[in-house]
Amino acid sequence: MNDHAEVMVDYYSQRVPYWKDWDVSTAEGKGTIEHVKWLLSGRRVLEIACGTGFWASQISQTAQSVVATDYTEAMLQCAREQTQDCENVVVQKADANSLVQIEETFSAGFHFQWFSHVPLAEVTGFLERFHSKLETGARVVFGDNRVQGEESTPAGDYYTTRELPNGNQFRIIKNYPTEGYLRDVLSTAACGVTYVLFRHNWFITYTKA
Ligand SMILES: C[S@@+](CC[C@H](N)C(=O)[O-])C[C@H]1O[C@@H](n2cnc3c(N)ncnc32)[C@H](O)[C@@H]1O
Repeated sequence: MNDHAEVMVDYYSQRVPYWKDWDVSTAEGKGTIEHVKWLLSGRRVLEIACGTGFWASQISQTAQSVVATDYTEAMLQCAREQTQDCENVVVQKADANSLVQIEETFSAGFHFQWFSHVPLAEVTGFLERFHSKLETGARVVFGDNRVQGEESTPAGDYYTTRELPNGNQFRIIKNYPTEGYLRDVLSTAACGVTYVLFRHNWFITYTKA
Protein backbone atom coordinates (compact mmCIF):
# COMPACT_ATOMS: atom_id res chain seq x y z
CA MET A 1 0.00 0.00 0.00
CA ASN A 2 1.24 3.51 -0.74
CA ASP A 3 1.19 6.33 1.85
CA HIS A 4 -2.15 7.68 0.66
CA ALA A 5 -3.80 4.25 0.92
CA GLU A 6 -2.37 3.64 4.39
CA VAL A 7 -3.66 7.01 5.63
CA MET A 8 -7.12 6.12 4.32
CA VAL A 9 -7.22 2.84 6.25
CA ASP A 10 -5.86 4.49 9.40
CA TYR A 11 -8.33 7.38 9.16
CA TYR A 12 -11.40 5.19 8.63
CA SER A 13 -10.30 2.72 11.31
CA GLN A 14 -10.19 5.56 13.83
CA ARG A 15 -13.38 7.15 12.49
CA VAL A 16 -15.59 4.10 13.07
CA PRO A 17 -16.79 5.15 16.58
CA TYR A 18 -17.85 8.55 15.20
CA TRP A 19 -19.27 7.39 11.86
CA LYS A 20 -22.87 8.34 11.02
CA ASP A 21 -24.74 6.36 8.38
CA TRP A 22 -26.82 8.00 5.65
CA ASP A 23 -29.74 9.99 7.03
CA VAL A 24 -32.80 8.08 5.84
CA SER A 25 -35.16 10.64 7.36
CA THR A 26 -34.51 13.28 4.69
CA ALA A 27 -36.35 13.26 1.38
CA GLU A 28 -33.02 13.09 -0.49
CA GLY A 29 -31.85 10.21 1.70
CA LYS A 30 -35.00 8.14 1.31
CA GLY A 31 -35.49 8.91 -2.36
CA THR A 32 -31.90 8.06 -3.26
CA ILE A 33 -31.94 4.78 -1.38
CA GLU A 34 -35.16 3.69 -3.08
CA HIS A 35 -33.70 4.64 -6.47
CA VAL A 36 -30.48 2.66 -5.87
CA LYS A 37 -32.46 -0.34 -4.59
CA TRP A 38 -34.59 -0.27 -7.73
CA LEU A 39 -31.54 0.00 -10.01
CA LEU A 40 -29.88 -3.03 -8.39
CA SER A 41 -32.96 -5.20 -7.90
CA GLY A 42 -32.52 -8.84 -8.85
CA ARG A 43 -28.75 -8.42 -9.35
CA ARG A 44 -25.71 -10.11 -7.82
CA VAL A 45 -23.99 -7.02 -6.48
CA LEU A 46 -20.32 -6.36 -5.69
CA GLU A 47 -19.98 -3.42 -3.29
CA ILE A 48 -16.60 -1.71 -2.86
CA ALA A 49 -15.64 0.12 0.37
CA CYS A 50 -18.91 -0.81 2.09
CA GLY A 51 -18.16 0.88 5.42
CA THR A 52 -20.62 -0.08 8.16
CA GLY A 53 -22.77 -2.17 5.80
CA PHE A 54 -25.54 0.41 5.63
CA TRP A 55 -25.86 0.28 1.84
CA ALA A 56 -25.51 -3.50 1.73
CA SER A 57 -28.39 -3.88 4.20
CA GLN A 58 -30.54 -1.62 2.04
CA ILE A 59 -29.57 -3.06 -1.35
CA SER A 60 -30.07 -6.62 -0.08
CA GLN A 61 -33.80 -5.90 0.21
CA THR A 62 -34.14 -5.97 -3.60
CA ALA A 63 -30.89 -7.53 -4.89
CA GLN A 64 -30.41 -11.26 -5.40
CA SER A 65 -27.20 -11.11 -3.36
CA VAL A 66 -24.55 -8.64 -2.16
CA VAL A 67 -20.84 -9.18 -1.56
CA ALA A 68 -19.92 -6.18 0.57
CA THR A 69 -16.18 -5.46 0.75
CA ASP A 70 -13.95 -3.11 2.71
CA TYR A 71 -10.34 -3.15 3.92
CA THR A 72 -10.70 -1.69 7.40
CA GLU A 73 -11.21 -4.35 10.07
CA ALA A 74 -13.35 -2.13 12.31
CA MET A 75 -15.65 -1.22 9.39
CA LEU A 76 -15.88 -4.89 8.37
CA GLN A 77 -16.93 -5.77 11.92
CA CYS A 78 -19.71 -3.13 11.79
CA ALA A 79 -20.79 -4.38 8.37
CA ARG A 80 -21.04 -7.97 9.66
CA GLU A 81 -23.19 -6.79 12.57
CA GLN A 82 -25.42 -4.55 10.47
CA THR A 83 -26.07 -7.29 7.89
CA GLN A 84 -26.24 -10.28 10.23
CA ASP A 85 -29.95 -10.77 9.48
CA CYS A 86 -29.52 -10.35 5.72
CA GLU A 87 -29.18 -13.90 4.43
CA ASN A 88 -28.14 -12.76 0.95
CA VAL A 89 -25.18 -10.59 2.13
CA VAL A 90 -21.59 -11.77 2.47
CA VAL A 91 -19.06 -9.37 4.01
CA GLN A 92 -15.54 -9.90 2.71
CA LYS A 93 -12.21 -8.16 3.17
CA ALA A 94 -10.91 -6.76 -0.12
CA ASP A 95 -8.53 -3.96 -0.99
CA ALA A 96 -10.21 -1.61 -3.47
CA ASN A 97 -6.76 -0.77 -4.81
CA SER A 98 -6.21 -4.30 -6.10
CA LEU A 99 -9.43 -6.32 -5.69
CA VAL A 100 -7.28 -9.47 -5.85
CA GLN A 101 -9.40 -11.02 -3.10
CA ILE A 102 -12.50 -11.04 -5.37
CA GLU A 103 -12.65 -14.22 -7.46
CA GLU A 104 -16.25 -14.15 -8.74
CA THR A 105 -17.83 -11.91 -11.32
CA PHE A 106 -21.06 -10.03 -10.67
CA SER A 107 -24.12 -8.71 -12.51
CA ALA A 108 -23.87 -5.33 -10.76
CA GLY A 109 -21.32 -3.09 -9.08
CA PHE A 110 -21.84 -0.39 -6.48
CA HIS A 111 -19.84 2.03 -4.38
CA PHE A 112 -20.63 5.22 -2.55
CA GLN A 113 -18.24 7.77 -1.02
CA TRP A 114 -15.23 5.93 -2.42
CA PHE A 115 -14.55 7.54 -5.79
CA SER A 116 -13.64 10.91 -4.24
CA HIS A 117 -10.78 9.11 -2.45
CA VAL A 118 -9.21 7.70 -5.63
CA PRO A 119 -6.26 9.83 -6.85
CA LEU A 120 -6.74 11.02 -10.43
CA ALA A 121 -3.66 9.09 -11.54
CA GLU A 122 -5.28 5.87 -10.25
CA VAL A 123 -8.82 6.35 -11.58
CA THR A 124 -8.33 4.47 -14.86
CA GLY A 125 -6.66 1.54 -13.11
CA PHE A 126 -9.32 1.42 -10.41
CA LEU A 127 -12.16 1.41 -12.96
CA GLU A 128 -10.45 -1.31 -15.04
CA ARG A 129 -10.07 -3.54 -11.97
CA PHE A 130 -13.63 -2.84 -10.80
CA HIS A 131 -15.08 -3.56 -14.25
CA SER A 132 -13.00 -6.75 -14.54
CA LYS A 133 -15.10 -8.17 -11.67
CA LEU A 134 -18.35 -7.42 -13.53
CA GLU A 135 -20.03 -9.31 -16.36
CA THR A 136 -20.74 -7.69 -19.71
CA GLY A 137 -24.13 -6.04 -19.33
CA ALA A 138 -23.69 -5.56 -15.59
CA ARG A 139 -25.42 -2.54 -14.09
CA VAL A 140 -23.10 -0.13 -12.31
CA VAL A 141 -24.11 2.53 -9.83
CA PHE A 142 -21.72 4.73 -7.91
CA GLY A 143 -21.74 8.13 -6.34
CA ASP A 144 -20.27 10.48 -3.81
CA ASN A 145 -20.78 13.77 -2.00
CA ARG A 146 -20.66 17.15 -3.68
CA VAL A 147 -17.63 18.09 -1.62
CA GLN A 148 -14.12 19.00 -2.76
CA GLY A 149 -11.02 19.38 -0.63
CA GLU A 150 -9.65 22.91 -0.31
CA GLU A 151 -5.99 22.16 -1.07
CA SER A 152 -5.05 21.31 -4.68
CA THR A 153 -1.92 19.51 -5.84
CA PRO A 154 0.00 19.74 -9.15
CA ALA A 155 -1.46 16.32 -10.05
CA GLY A 156 -4.94 17.86 -9.91
CA ASP A 157 -6.09 16.10 -6.74
CA TYR A 158 -7.75 17.94 -3.86
CA TYR A 159 -6.98 17.27 -0.21
CA THR A 160 -8.71 18.23 3.01
CA THR A 161 -7.61 17.97 6.62
CA ARG A 162 -10.01 16.16 8.89
CA GLU A 163 -9.82 16.11 12.66
CA LEU A 164 -11.55 13.35 14.59
CA PRO A 165 -13.09 13.92 18.04
CA ASN A 166 -10.09 12.03 19.47
CA GLY A 167 -7.91 14.93 18.27
CA ASN A 168 -6.07 13.04 15.52
CA GLN A 169 -5.73 14.83 12.18
CA PHE A 170 -5.56 13.24 8.73
CA ARG A 171 -4.85 14.72 5.31
CA ILE A 172 -7.41 13.02 3.08
CA ILE A 173 -7.87 13.13 -0.67
CA LYS A 174 -11.34 14.44 -1.58
CA ASN A 175 -11.96 14.99 -5.29
CA TYR A 176 -15.25 16.14 -6.80
CA PRO A 177 -15.34 14.94 -10.42
CA THR A 178 -17.44 16.80 -12.96
CA GLU A 179 -20.04 15.02 -15.07
CA GLY A 180 -17.83 15.62 -18.14
CA TYR A 181 -14.81 14.03 -16.46
CA LEU A 182 -16.84 10.96 -15.43
CA ARG A 183 -18.30 10.51 -18.90
CA ASP A 184 -14.82 10.83 -20.37
CA VAL A 185 -13.14 8.23 -18.12
CA LEU A 186 -16.05 5.83 -18.67
CA SER A 187 -16.39 6.40 -22.42
CA THR A 188 -15.02 3.03 -23.57
CA ALA A 189 -16.36 0.93 -20.70
CA ALA A 190 -19.92 2.17 -20.29
CA CYS A 191 -23.18 2.34 -22.25
CA GLY A 192 -26.28 4.33 -21.40
CA VAL A 193 -24.62 6.61 -18.87
CA THR A 194 -27.00 8.58 -16.63
CA TYR A 195 -25.66 11.22 -14.24
CA VAL A 196 -27.87 12.62 -11.49
CA LEU A 197 -27.09 15.52 -9.16
CA PHE A 198 -28.87 15.66 -5.83
CA ARG A 199 -28.54 18.52 -3.37
CA HIS A 200 -25.67 16.89 -1.46
CA ASN A 201 -24.58 13.99 -3.67
CA TRP A 202 -24.06 12.81 -7.23
CA PHE A 203 -24.70 9.39 -8.74
CA ILE A 204 -23.76 7.83 -12.05
CA THR A 205 -25.45 4.76 -13.53
CA TYR A 206 -24.47 2.75 -16.62
CA THR A 207 -24.27 -0.65 -18.21
CA LYS A 208 -20.83 -2.25 -18.45
CA ALA A 209 -20.02 -2.60 -22.15
C1 LIG B 1 -16.29 7.37 3.13
S1 LIG B 1 -16.29 5.69 3.69
C2 LIG B 1 -17.67 5.06 2.77
C3 LIG B 1 -18.37 3.92 3.43
C4 LIG B 1 -19.66 3.49 2.75
N1 LIG B 1 -19.47 3.24 1.34
C5 LIG B 1 -20.76 4.50 2.95
O1 LIG B 1 -21.04 5.28 2.05
O2 LIG B 1 -21.33 4.54 4.04
C6 LIG B 1 -14.88 5.04 2.87
C7 LIG B 1 -14.66 3.58 3.13
O3 LIG B 1 -13.50 3.16 2.42
C8 LIG B 1 -12.89 2.14 3.17
N2 LIG B 1 -11.51 1.94 2.69
C9 LIG B 1 -10.41 2.67 2.94
N3 LIG B 1 -9.36 2.16 2.27
C10 LIG B 1 -9.82 1.08 1.58
C11 LIG B 1 -9.22 0.15 0.71
N4 LIG B 1 -7.92 0.20 0.39
N5 LIG B 1 -10.00 -0.82 0.16
C12 LIG B 1 -11.31 -0.90 0.48
N6 LIG B 1 -11.94 -0.05 1.30
C13 LIG B 1 -11.20 0.94 1.85
C14 LIG B 1 -12.99 2.65 4.59
O4 LIG B 1 -12.79 1.62 5.54
C15 LIG B 1 -14.40 3.21 4.59
O5 LIG B 1 -15.31 2.22 4.99
